[in-house]
Amino acid sequence: MTSPAPLAIIAALMPECEALVAAMAAGDGAERVHLGRRDYHVGHLWGRPCVVTLARIGKVAAATTVTALIHRFGVERVVFTGVAGGLGDGVRVGDVVVADHLVQHDLDATPLFPRYEVPLLGLARFPADPALSGALADAAAAFLTHDLAELPAGTRATFGLDRPALHRGLVVSGDRFIAGAAAAAALRADLPEALAAEMEGAAVAQVCHEYGIPCGVLRIVSDSADDKAHIDFPAFLREVASFYTYGIVRRLLEAA
Ligand code: ADE
Repeated sequence: MTSPAPLAIIAALMPECEALVAAMAAGDGAERVHLGRRDYHVGHLWGRPCVVTLARIGKVAAATTVTALIHRFGVERVVFTGVAGGLGDGVRVGDVVVADHLVQHDLDATPLFPRYEVPLLGLARFPADPALSGALADAAAAFLTHDLAELPAGTRATFGLDRPALHRGLVVSGDRFIAGAAAAAALRADLPEALAAEMEGAAVAQVCHEYGIPCGVLRIVSDSADDKAHIDFPAFLREVASFYTYGIVRRLLEAA
């Protein structure tokens, strides 16, 4: 019998990736494959075959990582997890956003093609896979309800993690860290449905669309894409993000 094709888990930043790689190594071990200046960790997480890798930041980094995961590692589904700046009404630090659709907010080939449309592909909004996104949303809801309380009370108070919410909808991606009220307002005006801004998800969704591979994108809100974003983001990343990522991925794979 051939073993089932692995699930790809891509993390945007090192702390998130490390916790999952450590869990893999603590299980039945991980094989590390170095390719294109990235490490791909091949093994099992909570009994499921997985490849965990750190994409690094930005759309090109994400697209090249997903392409390698599909071609070289034969992954059958792709999950991208990381942090994002909150944009939508009522989207607060500590909330979780699961993407239903993704748009590259910095893609503009007008007047040749409509704004946001990927030239010659004819698509601007890339759908996430409904089943995988549903499973991610279930995992995130279970995590918020049952696991978040295990984060020290002091950390929860520092970051204002008072009953964080789960949102589903549009996530927008671009090669720009949004760190100012004016930039955030411009994005909200152009894409009023946008719940969160990040730098990789829509590129992952585009590659997965082109190869016919289901993808899911989950984002934990680390900042409000405002004038304090560059301070809030690293603090959240250091103290909170990996707790969320690890807990949500664990819930996802245990339920699979
Ligand atoms: N990732 C986390 N916060 C972000 C922001 N404010 N802009 C873009 N990507 C982000």
